[in-house]
Amino acid sequence: HVSDVSLASLELGPYRHFMQKEIHEQPRAIGDTVEGILDAGGFDAALFGKDAAQVLNDVESVQILACGTSYYAGLTARYWIEELAGLPCAVDIASEYRYRSVVANPKQLIVTISQSGETLDTMEALKYAKAQGQAASDESRTLSICNVPESAIPRASRLVFYTRAGAEIGVASTKAFTTQLVALFALAVALGKLRGRVDDAREAALLDDLRHLPGSVQHALNLEPQVASWAEKFAPRQHALFLGRGTHYPIALEGALKLKEISYIHAEGYPAGELKHGPLALVDTQMPVVVIAPNDALLEKVKSNIQEVRARGGEMFVFADADSSFSESDGVHVIRTPRHVGILSPIVHAIPVQLLAYHVALARGTDVDKPRNLAKSVTVE
Ligand code: G6P
Repeated sequence: HVSDVSLASLELGPYRHFMQKEIHEQPRAIGDTVEGILDAGGFDAALFGKDAAQVLNDVESVQILACGTSYYAGLTARYWIEELAGLPCAVDIASEYRYRSVVANPKQLIVTISQSGETLDTMEALKYAKAQGQAASDESRTLSICNVPESAIPRASRLVFYTRAGAEIGVASTKAFTTQLVALFALAVALGKLRGRVDDAREAALLDDLRHLPGSVQHALNLEPQVASWAEKFAPRQHALFLGRGTHYPIALEGALKLKEISYIHAEGYPAGELKHGPLALVDTQMPVVVIAPNDALLEKVKSNIQEVRARGGEMFVFADADSSFSESDGVHVIRTPRHVGILSPIVHAIPVQLLAYHVALARGTDVDKPRNLAKSVTVE
């Protein structure tokens, strides 16, 4: 007779919670998902199903539908789809989309993202999209990115990509998120290839970036002791602000969501450039401000946004990478993530914000794996 408790401790191995275990599984989860792409010989449309090339070939725009963390994966993907595929891309929260008078285009690709594949709002949004000008389901331009084989949403979609995160038990999504991002990146490159915007040399370079991703994620995980040392400063606070720009803006949103979900601290994610249009009024010495500031094209802009916060006495917690010229100063704490990894940088920067939420929740003694009022899979409206 094996009790639930001892079974759980067996599965947990050296970890205290499933969320911590799942955060640490990401090099493996991402590595397995990347391996599927490498095994298929690169960013081929066939990754998404047998007749995917035919379905994706004349796509004119992309509409992404999802909820929660999966929605933030979609927001990140928009930047990649615009840049690599040159396609207009809209991203909607499923529960909003399904009640709007959407203007349908039969050549629009509908992409649903769902870890569980069972989220009711996402399923209903998919049905609604199909009813608005998409052809019968065997001819629809629908693609689902999902972690659970044979669940409802992929079964209702023509094309499917299964992430290889493995079972995710913690209610707050972690490894499903980063593997969704890998899948969405592959979709953006595959669309770029079909549209003649990604040539062989570019594809080879992007594949190389993917190959190095599990290693960079492992480096980010090695920052855990440093991130944990920040947690005590957050634990007594009521509010926190997360800032990012470009592809790191959705990561700021995800960092705020993670903190809310498991530590119950009110947190908001904002695009750093929008600070002056509202949230700057909230900044005082009691408001910790997390900034995701890797060395990308927007770094100088982020730096000036940081000055705005410092001038109001806000304490800054900055995730910068090894290449971004950032130094600690009074009220500015810096943790350096690995060398800048270019276009995949948002995936690497998801790690420290997950770790921060986890350690703040530990410090506050909340039920990390089963936060109050939340469910892993929401199959009601
Ligand atoms: C719930 C979970 C979240 C998840 C969201 C969407 O709210 O608590 O972690 O992001 O559902 O779930 P899905 O399975 O569709 O990705």
